[in-house]
Amino acid sequence: MPAKFTSLTPALHHYIMAHHSGSRGDSQPGPRSAEPEDELLRELRHETEKLGGISQMLISAEQGTLLSLLVAATGARAAIEVGTFTGYSAICIARGLMPGGTLLCCDISDEWPAVGRPFWQRAGLEGTIELRAGDATQTLQALPPEQVFDFAFVDADKTGYDTYYELLLPRLKPNALIIFDNMLRDGRVANESLTEPDDVAIDALNRKLARDERVQAVLLPVADGLQICRKRAAG
Ligand SMILES: C[S@@+](CC[C@H](N)C(=O)[O-])C[C@H]1O[C@@H](n2cnc3c(N)ncnc32)[C@H](O)[C@@H]1O
Repeated sequence: MPAKFTSLTPALHHYIMAHHSGSRGDSQPGPRSAEPEDELLRELRHETEKLGGISQMLISAEQGTLLSLLVAATGARAAIEVGTFTGYSAICIARGLMPGGTLLCCDISDEWPAVGRPFWQRAGLEGTIELRAGDATQTLQALPPEQVFDFAFVDADKTGYDTYYELLLPRLKPNALIIFDNMLRDGRVANESLTEPDDVAIDALNRKLARDERVQAVLLPVADGLQICRKRAAG
């Protein structure tokens, strides 16, 4: 039987990027953009690119659509993001929330999210997104015990992912999603011997999630790889 996957070529990647419907949620007024990445997000990406090579940290446009879609499909009201940078993924997540929903953004820097804040305002999301600046481990540990979430996105320091997972999982409601970015490490996770600490940490987490009975997990080859995990009822 032939392998059940389609290898990505630059042309096919271009096709995929051209055929998604953007991150605009149902509650944002006005016509849908004709482009998969709407004007506001394009401007934010452009503004972020002025920071130089570090702008590579932004999620891709179709990842943004997928985040928004999953937030909306799960009816999430309370979301949390670990690793906000200039706030592109934050806009995508916040756009998918139910009316009145909230997104808590955690980033060690408050300078990078400051680039995104005017865009959050323009998107009408300033009352939806709250930034908590500081090391995410400390931020998560300091949250009140009763604070729970329907959706979590982790896209910060790779060696911290497992700690964020263990701190977030008890705060997730049953069926809540927790999503991790960069889980393919440019394809290096499939190498026999990994030495780079970020690669080793991500490989270890991929192995752990696949066996972890608290979640249902699937690793998708979207951009640099997304692990999408659903917290099981008894998780
Ligand atoms: C890949 S970027 C996030 C990109 C963002 N999700 C987007 O696509 O719009 C990673 C972010 O994690 C933050 N970060 C790194 N270490 C951190 C830590 N220990 N605690 C909180 N944030 C951290 C960095 O400051 C950076 O903004």
